[in-house]
Amino acid sequence: VDLSTLFFDERLFNLIVDDLRNNSNQHRPADVWLEAGGGADDPAAVGQFASENLIAPWVGFGASEITPESLYWYYQYLADIDAIGLMESYFESESRWKPAAHALSVADLGTILDVNLICPFIREPAREQLHIIEVGGGYGRLAEAFLNLFEGKVKYLLVDAVPSSLMYAREYLSRCNPDWRIGFSYDNDPLDWERFDCYIAPIWALGELGVGDFDVAVNVQGMQEMDQHHVDFYLNWFDAVLREEGIIYLCNRRDHVFRGEWRFPNHWECLLKTITPRSWTRDFPAEVYRKGVGTFASENNLREVMYRHERDYMRQGVRTEGERRQYRVY
Ligand SMILES: C[S@@+](CC[C@H](N)C(=O)[O-])C[C@H]1O[C@@H](n2cnc3c(N)ncnc32)[C@H](O)[C@@H]1O
Repeated sequence: VDLSTLFFDERLFNLIVDDLRNNSNQHRPADVWLEAGGGADDPAAVGQFASENLIAPWVGFGASEITPESLYWYYQYLADIDAIGLMESYFESESRWKPAAHALSVADLGTILDVNLICPFIREPAREQLHIIEVGGGYGRLAEAFLNLFEGKVKYLLVDAVPSSLMYAREYLSRCNPDWRIGFSYDNDPLDWERFDCYIAPIWALGELGVGDFDVAVNVQGMQEMDQHHVDFYLNWFDAVLREEGIIYLCNRRDHVFRGEWRFPNHWECLLKTITPRSWTRDFPAEVYRKGVGTFASENNLREVMYRHERDYMRQGVRTEGERRQYRVY
């Protein structure tokens, strides 16, 4: 679905903005998102909101179509980790692209990255379906990938707090595949996994729903644009909604809007903390945790140190080769 064709439904948008103003309380997003995604009170900020210009706040540079230059920064890394075989659907090699590759955006390469970093850690759920919760899923980039990859085997709860993201995610995912059953709290749909494959709601509408029930919790490039109290809340909330042994995947910059403390529960075991193609110039780890029992503070500290080594030394090789090719690093 071409993001530029998403329909701005003014009535629905205003309904969500009113709900945000009346009911979001401590979940009200940081100013940067009220301005970009609707809901700001300040008339000057309201004036900055542009419904047709949301692709940049969601995926930034990722909205651009891939070129040999942008692919370079991702290709080898993805080819190496791609146990799922997605890269083969698009590329024979870095320079030999299959026809489908010409429609890929840089954000799609990010999706191949995210699913390949999450899937190896997923264990067969005890029940038939895998239950995933994502906070700040934008237009549904990753939800779409999981609904495709695990067709009929996944239940996806997409949680946000920004009016435009909630509104467009519903439209985007409904249009991706009309067979997907998408529930939406603003349609007064109940959160009923018998009826829906994916459910979209603002955080303040969820209350105690689903506590202890999820297998995987995800946040990609969302917490990096929140305030300390949001990040504290969501880390604790992930802990509450995940079952024991549940997996947490986070991919957030440390050098962006949120510069506060990451207060991970001590019983989360860090399984992976690594650089990715998003990190060649940024402090931008991908992290996987497992909700465990006991305390993993010292192991996690070691992972943190190793991550910093990777970040500072290992990415140099990729950058040196890029510079040799006279590629501009993004
Ligand atoms: C940069 S976008 C990333 C979107 C998506 N994760 C991706 O990588 O394509 C940040 C997302 O976080 C959401 N967001 C911002 N503040 C939030 C908050 N306080 N609570 C929940 N979601 C929030 C935005 O609406 C948006 O969907």
